[in-house]
Amino acid sequence: MKIIIINGPNLNLLGKREPEIYGNATFEEYFKKLQQKYPQVQLQYFQSNIEGEIIDKLHEVGFDFDGIILNAAAYTHTSIGIGDAIKGITTPVVEVHISNVHSREDFRHVSYIAPNAKGVIAGFGLKSYELALQAFLD
Ligand code: DQA
Repeated sequence: MKIIIINGPNLNLLGKREPEIYGNATFEEYFKKLQQKYPQVQLQYFQSNIEGEIIDKLHEVGFDFDGIILNAAAYTHTSIGIGDAIKGITTPVVEVHISNVHSREDFRHVSYIAPNAKGVIAGFGLKSYELALQAFLD
């Protein structure tokens, strides 16, 4: 099974960025643990701060992979382009967020990803990614 985690803007700063919201671990550390825990999954990771690069990656993997775990970060709340890209591909997408976006500012309650996603997982810290992975495995 081929699954990719795609992270959007500022998530390269995990571990340093607002640790009271996003925690102290880097994503690279967490990703290594996930790979070790799920050796049966061909797990890939891509991060970009650039909207168009995220769209290009969705096009690249979106007809071939079995699942996409997408944390589009701030683009979740703004990007019609990423929403349209998800509509245009065949691989199912699970939207994830580290924080509970619904308990935060109003602008974080809007998602251009969710209407086209298989499901949404938010608020469980980095564990949100593992829960999304399990959703594809079950
Ligand atoms: C986030 C929530 C977004 O609102 C925010 O812009 C992020 C991270 C999360 O994982 O909790 O950058 O997607």
